[in-house]
Amino acid sequence: MCGIVGYIGNSDCVRFLIDGLKRVEYRGYDSAGVMIYSGKDRSNVLIKKTGRILELEKNIDKNISGNIGIGHTRWATHGEPNDENSHPHVSNNEKIFLVHNGIIENYMSLKKKLEKHGYSFYSETDTEILVNLIQYNYKDDIEEAVKIALAEVKGTYGIGVFCLDEPDKLIAAKLGSPLLIGIGNGENYFASDPASILKSTAEVVYMEDGEIAVITKNSVVHKTLTDEIVKKTVETISIELSDIEKSGYSHFMLKEIFEQPRTINDTMRGRLMLEEGAPKLGGLTQHPEIYKSLLNAEKIFIVACGTSWHSALIGEYMLEEYARIPVEVEYASEFRYRDPIITPKTVVIAISQSGETADTLAAIKEAKRKGAVTIGICNVVGSTISKETDAGVYLHAGPEIGVASTKAFTSQVITLALITLDIARHKDMSFRQGYKIIKELKLLPALAESILENSEKIREIAHKFKNASNFLYLGRGYNFPVALEGALKLKEISYIHAEGYPAAEMKHGPIALIDENMPVIFIAIKDSIYDKVVTNIKEVKARNGVVISIASYGDDEIESISDYVIKIPETTNLLSPVLTVIPLQLMAYYIAVERGLNVDMPRNLAKSVTVE
Ligand code: UD1
Ligand code: GLU
Ligand code: MG
Repeated sequence: MCGIVGYIGNSDCVRFLIDGLKRVEYRGYDSAGVMIYSGKDRSNVLIKKTGRILELEKNIDKNISGNIGIGHTRWATHGEPNDENSHPHVSNNEKIFLVHNGIIENYMSLKKKLEKHGYSFYSETDTEILVNLIQYNYKDDIEEAVKIALAEVKGTYGIGVFCLDEPDKLIAAKLGSPLLIGIGNGENYFASDPASILKSTAEVVYMEDGEIAVITKNSVVHKTLTDEIVKKTVETISIELSDIEKSGYSHFMLKEIFEQPRTINDTMRGRLMLEEGAPKLGGLTQHPEIYKSLLNAEKIFIVACGTSWHSALIGEYMLEEYARIPVEVEYASEFRYRDPIITPKTVVIAISQSGETADTLAAIKEAKRKGAVTIGICNVVGSTISKETDAGVYLHAGPEIGVASTKAFTSQVITLALITLDIARHKDMSFRQGYKIIKELKLLPALAESILENSEKIREIAHKFKNASNFLYLGRGYNFPVALEGALKLKEISYIHAEGYPAAEMKHGPIALIDENMPVIFIAIKDSIYDKVVTNIKEVKARNGVVISIASYGDDEIESISDYVIKIPETTNLLSPVLTVIPLQLMAYYIAVERGLNVDMPRNLAKSVTVE
């Protein structure tokens, strides 16, 4: 969760640390801190602040500078977000500094042990235990002390360590949390996210679980915790600076919503074989055994959380309708503890934008333990879930920084459609039908673009509802999960209570909530269940509800039964969520902006939830 950064070299590192932290602020941001060391006068400062990085920045005196530094943005797991609990944490002898992402699970027993040896603790964090465990093991070699301490730790970590008695090096280590080393010229860096260092260098080495790195300004040595040297390859980060900047948009979320025509295209690029009426997914075909297992699967579980769970539900509808394989969608957190039935022909698909979602990762590990073939659908290349799965398909949607997921969702739906189509074409789907769906896929970017051109209208509607305290979202079939996703978007960023339901289910309960103060958003596009949805709209109108309909161009009837209508273009049934979700993303965005909220960093949320 959240992020860490570190610098060692000859230049002043303050700017690097602050900018690096700002780049990962979106991932978790209840508090932040830095330790800055100056080799010139052998002095150091420790500054920690609750709240935004801006608060921290304001508290760093202009004349502070240093050539070594470590920084942290925290998403509290142990102890509330306050200055004392913020990182870096310092050892009792005030010599060792630690930034840590993750959780030390056995911190209580370690704490008891250290207390017996006279250690005191000033924060409520698990991290402070670890920094003192390092001091406890310190003889005169910080690398050794870190290794011994980590051998005793249970849990997950990405850490950066600095020791005042060995001020020519930083130590980094990782287990379960992402960490990479940036290679500079006479200077080196570490970071949990490539975005933090991209401005300084594109040359990186990704660390693996169980590895430790000793970083000086001119060298980086990688080892295992048991002291074997590990040979690593330097990779070049493929993301561009513009991918992680707002590029003129007022928020990342808005930028990412507007990027969708391109990202939808990027997800399909090179994967559509029109002349075969089928897709080609290199990520699957490269692994013939795994691919075969998928094509012959008798049962598929899809495990995911949040927005990815909604795309998974759409995947279930697709796979069952076209690939004719029974599918169960599970919350990853439930799957793991529920003892699911895995037979030899069961395939488990995991969906995670970041590829670091702890619950989903744990579900994948459990599935593997039970012998299932696992397939990942991730956005972040090289992420933990993408590595842990037997094979998979990357979204190739580019970095998603807004906490509320938008472009990843549409790319996930496309990816699931491609997987469905691939399996179906190996079964009884005809060339003609495959061809038709591929043609529809190719049209999607332009159709998405046309919805975005209409954003002003959605903004006007949003303005009218900025003070609503409840919303209901209703849809059927492929658009039931879209109703859930629309409600989730609104909750996440506007803090308005919202619920999604299958439209017909409304009359079994939620209809009791409907009165003139309850806006109800219907996804009422012209599809096979359109007439049924119209009936549901009339039921709401009969109870004075306010109806906002997402409807198809050419539907002239809908105006007479809705208070507001947002028209979108038509596509084939299984792809419709890619289009229907866009007005809902915009609606949530504009309402949150009208309410003066920080859309990119909603309260209590974090981008990649790497704790269970
Ligand atoms: C790959 C390249 C792409 C290139 C294309 C050319 C990467 C990441 N992708 O795309 O840049 O244009 O070849 O043929 O270099 N994987 C998992 N789990 C996941 C996601 C992916 O195991 O959750 C694996 C896949 O099985 C595959 C690899 O990662 O081995 C890359 O996947 P993907 O990018 O989807 O493959 P291609 O589309 O072939
Ligand atoms: N568990 C640590 C804490 O609560 C680190 C949390 C994080 O990853 O930010 O301080
Ligand atoms: Mg099912």
